[in-house]
Amino acid sequence: MSQSSSTLAVPTTGPTPRHVAIIMDGNGRWATQRHLPRTAGHIRGVQAVRRVVEACGRRGVEYLTLFAFSSENWRRPAQEVSLLMRLFVRTLEKEVGRLVEQGVRLRVVGDLSAFDEKLRRLILAAEERTADQSALTLTIAANYGGRWDILQAIRALWAAHPELISQPDKMDEAMLEPWLAMAYAPEPDLFIRTGGEQRISNFLIWQLAYTELYFTDCYWPDFKAQDIDAAFAWYRGRERRFGRTSAQLAARS
Ligand code: FPP
Repeated sequence: MSQSSSTLAVPTTGPTPRHVAIIMDGNGRWATQRHLPRTAGHIRGVQAVRRVVEACGRRGVEYLTLFAFSSENWRRPAQEVSLLMRLFVRTLEKEVGRLVEQGVRLRVVGDLSAFDEKLRRLILAAEERTADQSALTLTIAANYGGRWDILQAIRALWAAHPELISQPDKMDEAMLEPWLAMAYAPEPDLFIRTGGEQRISNFLIWQLAYTELYFTDCYWPDFKAQDIDAAFAWYRGRERRFGRTSAQLAARS
């Protein structure tokens, strides 16, 4: 079983989320408001990534997962897709040293087969170079989609256990979870989406089953440490029942 499945057992939770997952939305609108090309918003978005990684590390978050490029983002204009790819390359080349200094382990999840060879090599090298770090695990979801993840996990499980194909009732959640792309992390405690939209957009759809969902109008390039604090303060006020009643929770404390 993956770490603390919310549907199979009640996970233990604390005042600070162990795992924060973020959809970094609003880069394009941030730029358009300033009469800049949308790509300028993505470039500023990288600075926000840096701030949030540092802020989460300082606050004791163990896992931070950022949605950088969805399976559906290929539908964007070719010029924007190409800028985003170059930005990943440049950021990986420039930032890995800083990640090591901060004790950050980098992992990238998604269908990387669609990326060019250079980017794939850089991703592997960055993952290897940070593999011994343990303060914070930073996961970048790139060409990731929640449905892609569930399908690839089923395919991998069936490849490992072909007997399940003819006995589907033998398959359960606990068997599937180790094959999901983020099996190494507990499910997110807190999901944040910037930019004012209130959608999951095919992010970690399996893993968000019992995650607290926080939406803010702030555009991603404007997102700062104090916005993380506001989200965490909101999180601390949530009653995480995982299917139980308020009375049951009160009786435990
Ligand atoms: C959504 O804003 C943002 C993206 C699709 C890309 C996110 C990428 C970055 C923040 C920079 C690179 C990150 C890393 C980890 C190197 P949008 O373009 O949908 O904004 P809009 O909704 O205002 O149009």
